[in-house]
Amino acid sequence: MDLHLSGKVAVVTGASRGIGLAVVQALAAEGATVVAGARHVGDELAALAHTAPVRATELDLSTADGPARLVAEAVAAFGGIDILVNNVGAVRPRTGGFLSVSDEDWLTMWTVNLMAAVRTTRAALPHLLRRGAGSIVTVASANARLPDPMVIDYGAAKAGLLNFSKALSKEVGGRGIRMNTVSPGPVSTALWLAEGGVATTIAEAAGSTAADVAAGAAGASVTGRFSRPDEVAALVVYLAGDRSGNVTGADFVVDGGLIATL
Ligand SMILES: NC(=O)c1ccc[n+]([C@@H]2O[C@H](COP(=O)([O-])OP(=O)(O)OC[C@H]3O[C@@H](n4cnc5c(N)ncnc54)[C@H](OP(=O)(O)O)[C@@H]3O)[C@@H](O)[C@H]2O)c1
Repeated sequence: MDLHLSGKVAVVTGASRGIGLAVVQALAAEGATVVAGARHVGDELAALAHTAPVRATELDLSTADGPARLVAEAVAAFGGIDILVNNVGAVRPRTGGFLSVSDEDWLTMWTVNLMAAVRTTRAALPHLLRRGAGSIVTVASANARLPDPMVIDYGAAKAGLLNFSKALSKEVGGRGIRMNTVSPGPVSTALWLAEGGVATTIAEAAGSTAADVAAGAAGASVTGRFSRPDEVAALVVYLAGDRSGNVTGADFVVDGGLIATL
């Protein structure tokens, strides 16, 4: 199926690895030109930038001006934007419980998970509106709907993303801009599985192993496994293109059946 992405310009945040990198790969494979931002470009994104129409940029999207700089770079290089994928995010399991989570902790999670998307959307939206068409896809989390004290600040920020995207979809839908969220359950990326990621952090606190923690998370879903980044990216790319032209204000869960309710 042609997703009609050829010639479109996309901005992807948090794009050097994991879901963001998979989204960049999928968009480029569909013929889009991609401007990809992360703090460190890394080997895989750098290699992609050599072989595909991908421009990789190093910047911190948790700063007040980082999101606008990424958008400005895309506009300067390619004359406009058709697609924004708000993917950047981070999590730190709060193994010490709610009372151990400081204001600074809350603000850190709030900034990278919610404000980065708000600021990037604010910077990109005028360019999408100028073209009278566009799609903004924001990567939230199953934790937006599955509140968990272990990720209390992250979950609240992700729930905020669902509300933000839905609200703005009402303001801009009549002007050709669609806004949707994708909410993954556990995905096999560094966020969960690398040293210092969710599995090792919880394992250290619980006196267990990262493999056991990951197996427990996988076993909580119906399919019994983590999603792969490319499985999340496939949905993001579908929502980015105009095949999904009458889909807006919606949230799509990719969690192997983890969320047990309708
Ligand atoms: N993996 C999961 O199980 C899961 C589940 C639900 C939702 N999600 C969401 O999916 C999104 C992607 O997660 P992932 O698992 O792919 O994470 P990941 O493997 O940790 O990748 C995160 C990406 O964001 C970049 N990044 C982080 N902080 C940044 C900052 N301040 N400025 C610029 N770039 C930054 C990282 O590169 P640098 O470190 O070089 O900056 C990296 O490219 C996040 O929003 C996450 O909350 C993930």
